[in-house]
Amino acid sequence: MHQDLLSFRQWNSDDAQKLLTFALDLKQQPNKYGRLLEGKTVVAIFEKPSLRTRVSFDIGINKLGGHMVYVDSQGAELKKREDPIDVGANLAQWTDAIVSRVYAHATLEQLAEGSHVPVINALCDRYHPCQALADYMSMHEHLGSVRGKTMAYVGDGNNVTHSLLILGVLLGCHQVVITPKGYEIDDEIKAFVIALADEHNVEVTFASEMSALARCDVIYTDTWLSMGDNTPLADIKDTFMPYQLNDELMKHTHASYVMHCQPAHRDLEITGQLMDSEQSLLMAQANNRMHAQNAILSYLMTDMSL
Ligand code: CP
Ligand code: NVA
Repeated sequence: MHQDLLSFRQWNSDDAQKLLTFALDLKQQPNKYGRLLEGKTVVAIFEKPSLRTRVSFDIGINKLGGHMVYVDSQGAELKKREDPIDVGANLAQWTDAIVSRVYAHATLEQLAEGSHVPVINALCDRYHPCQALADYMSMHEHLGSVRGKTMAYVGDGNNVTHSLLILGVLLGCHQVVITPKGYEIDDEIKAFVIALADEHNVEVTFASEMSALARCDVIYTDTWLSMGDNTPLADIKDTFMPYQLNDELMKHTHASYVMHCQPAHRDLEITGQLMDSEQSLLMAQANNRMHAQNAILSYLMTDMSL
């Protein structure tokens, strides 16, 4: 049994690369590995809504021979009824792993503290590691590699940005992050990423001007308002509109593809036309969610080595 996956911060470059390779292979040759979760149970406990994460975990676990129990905690934060440390300890009596989507990262840390089975972050305010692994699988499949390529993220500096940066740097992928002033990524994570990039000889650029997009292989965006942010769209729309991904922007960059974790808002952060275009990797990313998660679950829930 291995550790939790709350973020990729504790991972090294070698293991990150091996996990990506394993995920790609598990997708291509599922029969080579057999039913890795035969007889195992996973509890998914979510404080926030989900389409892709919930469904892809459920179906993926089933394909590996396991069983998922969904616990709906959307009515109230987990900690309202009992301490997350006690929720973790109780769930671990019956399940072999816990997948959880929460508001506060601290809730996941407490769940993990109480639980003796692996806890997997299905999105929190700071990270979305399962998304990042699926996204680098998609990049690898379409560009032939991740190492040495450049990922440009445009829009709100958020949980998805943080995970793309951390895993991307570990995988040797250069990063450009363009956010409007006032919507930059978290300072502590920025310092961590800069130090990590230094250690791995990876280039990381932070900017607020779209001109920083000149050199990149893919352009990624996400919603301007993440779940739990109740700011009215009207208050931020004018600030973010210049950061929209659209055909005109694509003509002025060298990027081959656009990416978005979804849910996407057509004609806000990305035009519907670009989402539906040949340059869109959105469905490849959604497809890879299941394969990425199956690799993570298999690694954390069995004694396999990478
Ligand atoms: N990308 C993603 O996590 O989608 P859901 O919120 O639908 O799970
Ligand atoms: N940043 C978004 C990602 C959704 C998958 C959010 O947290 O709502």
